[in-house]
Amino acid sequence: MGHWSLDDIPWDRFDRSKVDPEIVRIVKAASLVEYNGAAYAHHLCRIFHDDPEFQQNARRWGEEEIQHGRALGRWAELADPSFDFGAAFARFRSGYQVDFDCNTSRRGSRSGEMIARCMVEVGTSSYYTALRDAVEEPVLKEICRNIAADEVRHYKLFYKNLTLCLARERIGFWRRLRVAAGRIAESGDDELAYAYYAANETMRPYERRRYSRAYSGRAYTLCRDDHVTRGVVLIFKVVGLDPHGLLARTASRFAWWFIRYRGIRLILR
Ligand SMILES: [Fe+2]
Ligand SMILES: [Fe+2]
Repeated sequence: MGHWSLDDIPWDRFDRSKVDPEIVRIVKAASLVEYNGAAYAHHLCRIFHDDPEFQQNARRWGEEEIQHGRALGRWAELADPSFDFGAAFARFRSGYQVDFDCNTSRRGSRSGEMIARCMVEVGTSSYYTALRDAVEEPVLKEICRNIAADEVRHYKLFYKNLTLCLARERIGFWRRLRVAAGRIAESGDDELAYAYYAANETMRPYERRRYSRAYSGRAYTLCRDDHVTRGVVLIFKVVGLDPHGLLARTASRFAWWFIRYRGIRLILR
């Protein structure tokens, strides 16, 4: 059982006058990525094939991600009645394919896989918190509040499993850092860009750069410095650095500057 369901969302409070069309576009894209959660849960169950307890947690996690997709997709269909969530998801799945059937993590170890999962949850928890704070439409605000709380719980789930994996695998600091940095760099890859394309564009051919910029530019401008600071604390914990030390504070200032700069540049282009 999840912590909330679609029935808990006050759909009757939907206020069309507070809908921002730019936000609708990124919500549509996010709905497709979230709804793909079952594929990732399947992959995690294969990597942890001898750990039934974690497999159970991973399946529950996957169901919660699917629910995020359903909630965002339903809201997007309310906000834009021409949006067909099912058709957009089919387009996304046919154009974006990853091998989820392999038994080993492409991060090189189980710890690496948990670091990458933690990084994704840092990104999503920060993103939905920023979206919750930025939007005025009350139904979307409530959806984002629920999703952000789930994403923090997901981070804790993977972080707890990371500590168990590290006790057995003894992955050093530099490898942890490399996996974490690699996963951040992957945010510019096809997944979000293709979701943005599949959700919003039916006429033009796909161009990763174009749609990655369209998504990131809008997403970056939602962030505030407190969202960034919180994200840096969580990332520092994952790689094994003091999350409240001078280095963390410096990294947080730099990350905030970078996100603002990138967001403004991407929007102005
Ligand atoms: Fe999610
Ligand atoms: Fe999550």
